[in-house]
Amino acid sequence: MKQLREKIASEGRVLSGEVLKVDSFLNHQIDPKLMQAIGEEFSRRFKNDGVTKILTIESSGIAPAAMAGLTMGIPVVFARKRASLTLTEGLISSEVKSFTKQTVNTISVSGDYVTADDTLLIIDDFLANGQAALGLLDISGQAGAKVAGIGIVIEKGFQNGGKLLREQGVRVESLAIIESLADGKVAFREESEV
Ligand code: G4P
Ligand code: NA
Ligand code: NA
Repeated sequence: MKQLREKIASEGRVLSGEVLKVDSFLNHQIDPKLMQAIGEEFSRRFKNDGVTKILTIESSGIAPAAMAGLTMGIPVVFARKRASLTLTEGLISSEVKSFTKQTVNTISVSGDYVTADDTLLIIDDFLANGQAALGLLDISGQAGAKVAGIGIVIEKGFQNGGKLLREQGVRVESLAIIESLADGKVAFREESEV
């Protein structure tokens, strides 16, 4: 997605070789027009797949997921990383390890909102090691829901999440794939340059 690659090229900052900071439009401040275009692009790619609901994870998955849900006219559910005062019964949970942060989070959704009647589109902001996506797939499976695929805003192609998921036969659609962040420069993978 050209508009996204241009935004990454102009505003993204490479931190410590392996991490891309995109706080100006995705992870802290949000660019609503760009998010809308991202939502439309996910919608275009998944419009014929019978998707009934979008599943994402707080916090940075919510903005692109909400815009995709708006375009597709379907609800958006976000998995929670912390216990909620009101969300306590009928929870479906999964453990998500973060290699980056060396933490384990329990993520949860209510079985009221993700069910065996659903065909889900899973959306997230970043795909790195794939642990968040695997957790969301696990929750989808526990609910008995079908998964049409995974939509990712920025895939770090030099980490193994994309390979891991695609090898399992999961359809992964990434709007920008980063091949390398070496020498402080963002290099995109060729197939995402269309
Ligand atoms: P994984 O799910 O693919 O295995 O990711 P990992 O544990 O490596 O990443 C943990 C957190 O860091 C996730 O956000 C993920 O989106 C984010 N992340 C990973 N690599 C990058 C990067 O290069 N740049 C940025 N900006 N984020 C990255 P999170 O902790 O769930 O936070 P949030 O959704 O509240 O933002
Ligand atoms: Na994130
Ligand atoms: Na995320």
